[in-house]
Amino acid sequence: MPTRPFYDPSLSYEENYAHGPFGLFATVPETSPIDVAPRERFLGIPMHSTFGIPAGPLLNSRFVAAAFAHGFDLCVYKTVRSAAYPSHPFPNTLAVECDGAMAPGQTLIAHPADALGKMPPHSITNSFGVPSQPPDVWQSDMKDAVRSAQQGQVMIGSFQGSGEGIAQIADYARAARLVAETGAPVLEANLSCPNEGKKGLLCFDLEKVNAVVDAIRKEVSDRPLLLKLAYFDDASVLEALVCALADKVDGFCAINTLPARVVDATGQPALPGEGRDISGICGAAIRWAGLSMTQKLADIRARHSLHFAIVANGGVLTPADDADYRQAGADAVMSATGAMWNPCLAQQIKKERRHDLT
Ligand SMILES: Cc1cc2nc3c(=O)[nH]c(=O)nc-3n(C[C@H](O)[C@H](O)[C@H](O)COP(=O)(O)O)c2cc1C
Repeated sequence: MPTRPFYDPSLSYEENYAHGPFGLFATVPETSPIDVAPRERFLGIPMHSTFGIPAGPLLNSRFVAAAFAHGFDLCVYKTVRSAAYPSHPFPNTLAVECDGAMAPGQTLIAHPADALGKMPPHSITNSFGVPSQPPDVWQSDMKDAVRSAQQGQVMIGSFQGSGEGIAQIADYARAARLVAETGAPVLEANLSCPNEGKKGLLCFDLEKVNAVVDAIRKEVSDRPLLLKLAYFDDASVLEALVCALADKVDGFCAINTLPARVVDATGQPALPGEGRDISGICGAAIRWAGLSMTQKLADIRARHSLHFAIVANGGVLTPADDADYRQAGADAVMSATGAMWNPCLAQQIKKERRHDLT
């Protein structure tokens, strides 16, 4: 019997927010994942493990608390904004057909929305538009999420700025301040949301990223700041960005989804509505890109004697995938798609890494 995913793609974002998490993830695990002292460190913080769930499927404090209870020790609260923002309409997540690695810009065929309940997919598309509750709702909820971390666990607060140009830069700083007020010990600025910034993704616009980071640092300077990046094909562009920012931030999270045209079996766009014919692919299809970014970041760090953390993700479905990422240079590894269908993934990885705590 397949496990019901903790974020259920057969329901809307709003239904998931109101009633999730679902499946085994929503139950208290039989063995406590946290009954010995922390053995690892992340950004100088003692951690049970440097494995967790990236920004996205943990919609609110109930999801975050469940993730911590199941041994995901590094959990990112889904990206928030400084004002309420609606989700794209249902469906938001569909399984896609992809044998092996996908190329950026490839067309992929999606299965109908109800197919996801029948088998754990290797790859999915997601199209939410970064919805956000208003700050008065998410700030008090994020405080609960921060409090649900046990010793050796860390909640990261992800945020992004809305609007255009200077207004967007100021909004990144505003959102950072609001997240910091919840007590989140680590901040993550999402720079890889589609269509933010003049050259497409904001993270490809070095001048603007610099301005965003300066604005955030002026507002919040007392805790670690991570930047969430997309896949960079050109290592020299990534190198310019990383070298310009390495003194101002504490680490880079990569990767966000890879864009693809997603169609149904008849060749029509699989997701309804304007601008949704291209959406973001997650899971096994993008593992090659996550690994490639990890290697590029590790290489830049070594050649320039820099000291930032690499938080790696993209298609981590098994302990072997986690090991590959660590081999490539990751300091922490995360899984969104893999964790959604496998609430035991963190425990399995701890066992593989000889951190079995039972
Ligand atoms: C349901 C879902 C929602 C997501 N929402 C966000 C988000 O709000 N902010 C963000 O930076 N990334 C978001 N992502 C992208 C993930 O953080 C991650 O970069 C991507 O899924 C690739 O990792 P994976 O292959 O382990 O799924 C989301 C992913 C999923 C599956």
